Amino acid sequence: MGRCRVKRLVTVLLLSGTPAFAGHELFDRDLVAGQTLYQDHCAACHGANLEGQPDWRVPNDDGTLPAPPHDETGHTWHHDNQLLFEYTKLGGRGALAARGVSDFNSAMPAFDGVVTDDEVWDILAYIRSTWPERVQEIHASRNPKH
Ligand code: HEC
Repeated sequence: MGRCRVKRLVTVLLLSGTPAFAGHELFDRDLVAGQTLYQDHCAACHGANLEGQPDWRVPNDDGTLPAPPHDETGHTWHHDNQLLFEYTKLGGRGALAARGVSDFNSAMPAFDGVVTDDEVWDILAYIRSTWPERVQEIHASRNPKH
């Protein structure tokens, strides 16, 4: 009984302690605005229901990849907030160039000047809000505490 409670407390601390303050850029965002902006700017490629393009793992003839889903079946939640933000703002080429990869051919356009930084965070927060709680927790743990 006693040991059980200690174990439970440790689990609660592990789950709530570290990730709770990680990834805070996506907290307290305007999810309604994010959803509207998503439909206006992202849905054409990533799907109205965040389902991505068909066969998104198979490269196109020009070597680019199709748009992946943003729901939990994709890999958006594998990436930390900073990468998601830069991928949206700078586009695929820009985000990878900023990380020293210059020869990557990406079909993900840059949204710098199309939407504001705040709007990018709103869109990403909307995407996150569609994930099951378990996936949201894993995603938060991908973000270093800051
Ligand atoms: C013209 C089609 C197109 C539009 C519009 C588009 N994307 Fe993408 N996006 C892509 C493609 C293609 C990729 C695949 C990655 C690559 O090849 O670089 C991608 C990848 C991504 C990634 C990195 C992969 C991942 O799942 O983490 C993010 C984040 C992303 N897009 C966010 C957005 C957001 C947010 C919007 C709307 C503001 C948007 N995209 C609009 C085509 C598009």
